Amino acid sequence: MELRDFGKRFQVPVYGQGTWNLFGKGVVEALRKGIDLGLTHIDTAEMYGTEESVGEAIAGRRDEVFLVSKVLPSNASRTATIRACDQSLIRLRTDRLDCYLLHWPGRHPLEETIAAFEELVAKGKIRSYGVSNFDEDLLAQALKIAGPGKIACNQCLYNLEERHLEARVLPFCRKNGIALVGYSPIKGIHGPEIEKVAKEIGATAAQVALAFLTRLEGTFAIPKASTLAHVRENARRLALSAEQIARLDKAYPLRVRAELPTA
Ligand SMILES: NC(=O)c1ccc[n+]([C@@H]2O[C@H](COP(=O)([O-])OP(=O)(O)OC[C@H]3O[C@@H](n4cnc5c(N)ncnc54)[C@H](OP(=O)(O)O)[C@@H]3O)[C@@H](O)[C@H]2O)c1
Repeated sequence: MELRDFGKRFQVPVYGQGTWNLFGKGVVEALRKGIDLGLTHIDTAEMYGTEESVGEAIAGRRDEVFLVSKVLPSNASRTATIRACDQSLIRLRTDRLDCYLLHWPGRHPLEETIAAFEELVAKGKIRSYGVSNFDEDLLAQALKIAGPGKIACNQCLYNLEERHLEARVLPFCRKNGIALVGYSPIKGIHGPEIEKVAKEIGATAAQVALAFLTRLEGTFAIPKASTLAHVRENARRLALSAEQIARLDKAYPLRVRAELPTA
């Protein structure tokens, strides 16, 4: 799998493995197969209830993996962040995370969470830290508090239906060396144009979506797959032509936030 600069310090595979709702028989095997195939960026969170399975999957292979977990906003105070990280490390059966994220913005001041992240870095419990679900204004705040080069990534919703982060969040990330990790990339992979492109290159719609969503430097995708067939599919990285990209761009247009339906 192709590697890319992730933040200022790491090289990470463009596609990784998500683990939200990764339950049931065979999920440890699926994660291990993904690691075998180069999907070594593994994303979990204290919220997901999947850290134990990830711990089982990476047992004996810790050094092969770029391991990411997240603290819940309700736990993101100066002291509770440290406790949450310690608990995640126990569940993951490891002594360190490669990147630790604030799952979404919450009530605790960012200064506190970032001070806790810095303490965890100093203690060797995390190698880097980042955020998730931050817009460009919040990202700018976080960067101001942490300092240049300190925010390794911003993990955000990014799929064919929801491309609005390309307007402002992604340019901000690229300018500041922050990796943009797109979650829920498989959503919305239907429609005649994607099927047409998939047929042209002998691929599936999911493979086309993953290639499209990572066509720009600084972007990553973390599809979740509990079946071996999906893991194998997601491990195949394809190249799209400029003309195919232009067609997909037209079929799944970028809509700015104001045009999106509100929940
Ligand atoms: N930071 C956040 O707030 C946040 C929020 C949501 C998600 N995430 C992270 O991002 C990861 C991915 O997002 P997601 O789980 O919401 O959605 P997703 O990866 O877009 O979609 C998962 C669904 O797609 C299916 N799938 C996987 N590969 C496929 C393929 N090649 N072809 C067809 N279907 C395929 C999976 O099926 P099977 O499982 O049956 O294989 C599953 O039903 C999460 O697992 C989590 O780690 C983060």
